[in-house]
Amino acid sequence: MRIDVITIFPDYLNPLREALLGKAIERERISVGVHDLRDWTHDVHRAVDDSPYGGGPGMVMKPQVWGEALDSVCGTGAKGGPVPRLVVPTPAGRPFDQRTAVRWSAEPWLVFACGRYEGIDQRVIEDAATRMPVEEVSIGDYVLVGGEVAALVMIEAVARLLPGVLGNPLSAEQDSFSDGLLEGPCYTRPEVWRGRAVPDVLRSGNHAAIARWRRDQALARTYHRRPDLLEALPEGALDAADRAQ
Ligand code: ADE
Repeated sequence: MRIDVITIFPDYLNPLREALLGKAIERERISVGVHDLRDWTHDVHRAVDDSPYGGGPGMVMKPQVWGEALDSVCGTGAKGGPVPRLVVPTPAGRPFDQRTAVRWSAEPWLVFACGRYEGIDQRVIEDAATRMPVEEVSIGDYVLVGGEVAALVMIEAVARLLPGVLGNPLSAEQDSFSDGLLEGPCYTRPEVWRGRAVPDVLRSGNHAAIARWRRDQALARTYHRRPDLLEALPEGALDAADRAQ
């Protein structure tokens, strides 16, 4: 997968080169390009923002600069050329979730347009959408100072789903959310730590009992922490033993 990020703070994306993502880049599972938006300014001040039409606080990112940046990074839409999916992180976007991550993990090319200030002139998004799929997405109901951290979050969630990125592919299959439930607790050695013992069933060797216990823990945790997820389960997702919980 190819991933490009356009930002006025390229260094903010340095964590991409660390740990799991860094390894994925080294192993050429993903290739990442980080671009400085100011490279597409033409004035001495390298200005990327201006005051908003209609008044109000804050500044808006200029369409000319973003337009040129997207033309250059995404291509101008010449017939037959590849086009990326353009992702615009914004608190006013549709919620990003695990399903979005799974969907994007099948894409060959993602471009993240990271805005700052009050946001990007909306015509940039409308114009891009005539040439490529565009999604405005939010990572949660809170406001960050820019899209960079949101882009990092989304890139990590997508990259770990790519083949050969996680050491053990079963980890992604058994994630919280993969079956619509939160994952239950997990334990490792020693058997007793500070007077707390690992639940007996996990040391029983009885795989059916362990699977049932894990399922029950996931159901209980989801019920207490995220009842909205239980409500959203599709018809038939819970069996009789689940419902007895
Ligand atoms: N930019 C600022 N806040 C954001 C959020 N919650 N999600 C995505 N991008 C953002």
